[in-house]
Amino acid sequence: MPSAAESVQTAHAGHLAQVFAQYPIEIAHGEGVWLHARDGRKLLDFYGGHAVAGLGYGHPRWLAALERQARQMPFQTNALPMAVRERAAARLARFAGLGLDTIFWINSGAEANENALKLAFKLTGRSKAVALVQGWHGRTAAAGAVTWGALEKWYGFPRLPFDVSFLPRDQPTAVDAGIDRNTAAVIVEPVQGVGGAYDVGTPMLEALRRRCNEVGALLIFDEVQCGVGRTGAPFGANYFHVTPDMITTAKALGNGFPVSALMLSGRVARQLKVDDMGTTFGGGPMACAIAEAVIDTIESESLLANVRQVSAYIRASCVIGPVLGIQGAGFLLGLKTSRPAKEVQQALLDQDILTGTSGDPNVLRLLPAYILNEGHVDRLSDALARIPA
Ligand SMILES: Cc1ncc(COP(=O)(O)O)c(C=O)c1O
Repeated sequence: MPSAAESVQTAHAGHLAQVFAQYPIEIAHGEGVWLHARDGRKLLDFYGGHAVAGLGYGHPRWLAALERQARQMPFQTNALPMAVRERAAARLARFAGLGLDTIFWINSGAEANENALKLAFKLTGRSKAVALVQGWHGRTAAAGAVTWGALEKWYGFPRLPFDVSFLPRDQPTAVDAGIDRNTAAVIVEPVQGVGGAYDVGTPMLEALRRRCNEVGALLIFDEVQCGVGRTGAPFGANYFHVTPDMITTAKALGNGFPVSALMLSGRVARQLKVDDMGTTFGGGPMACAIAEAVIDTIESESLLANVRQVSAYIRASCVIGPVLGIQGAGFLLGLKTSRPAKEVQQALLDQDILTGTSGDPNVLRLLPAYILNEGHVDRLSDALARIPA
């Protein structure tokens, strides 16, 4: 009988590009917030497939939407109008309630950011983008250019497609000098994900909004990870009461079906012309039916309230063992650890609890499904209590 680590090796060594560090667990199936491994282990999932599984695994409404739309019409090009595409867009815009009422559907977080940045350059005719230290926006040419540290680690393209500068994430007073009339776009995650579930906060976001208004730059909130209910509000923009010109979102929007969205203010949308953007798979009826079902489920099952309540319970009960403090918002939380987060992650995994790490070596990231309850949190706090500080 191979060990768990060996069987993962067997399953993945053959034909897959070896670009992912992997956990020594091979998942067979999932149910709610539980993962069942091939070797019979049952793990409590605080990682959510990297913030994707907002509704957890096997949610009946998600499954029903998938099957219904697959039977009715699995795919059609954007050149042929479909009611489900328009309905999902209306639903997303209404869920946000921010006046970003025009939706462009695409497939991934990076693709949404690529389009947002392109629009900002096209509409302003300017040459520079501004991002924040520790921000993460994706692996493509433009999204990678505004990702902190990408150039040194994995960027690969011979040059950046535009000028980029990075501002500190916690200094609203540095904003005026860093953003000027050459700035087309400022891109920011209201709660940084990879950066360690770091809450950028209202003063910083307000300063960015004010400065963008002053110089005519477009403010983009990258809510690929922190959007669609993860903060306990529809979007980080609602949570922090600051409205950008564009929001990009993905991950939990499809609960595992690839879908992302670029949400546009009227000011931006009014300037669009046919052919300014395009996609084959974006706006596919299955992706749209699922996004609609995900939002419907978040609303009808009061999952935002659950995220807020259980998040407060995590904050109250999980500063224990090696955890010194908790940052972030809702179900995008960073546990600040006295020991390297990787060690704490391994010690939790040994107790059948899956968590994530982050760009900060002393921050363990929690990205659980919105259906998590206080009993699940008790298991986490008990497990943390058994780990030496
Ligand atoms: C905030 C943020 N933006 C963009 C991305 C890129 O998304 P994708 O991997 O779907 O391209 C990620 C992925 O982790 C992310 O966390």
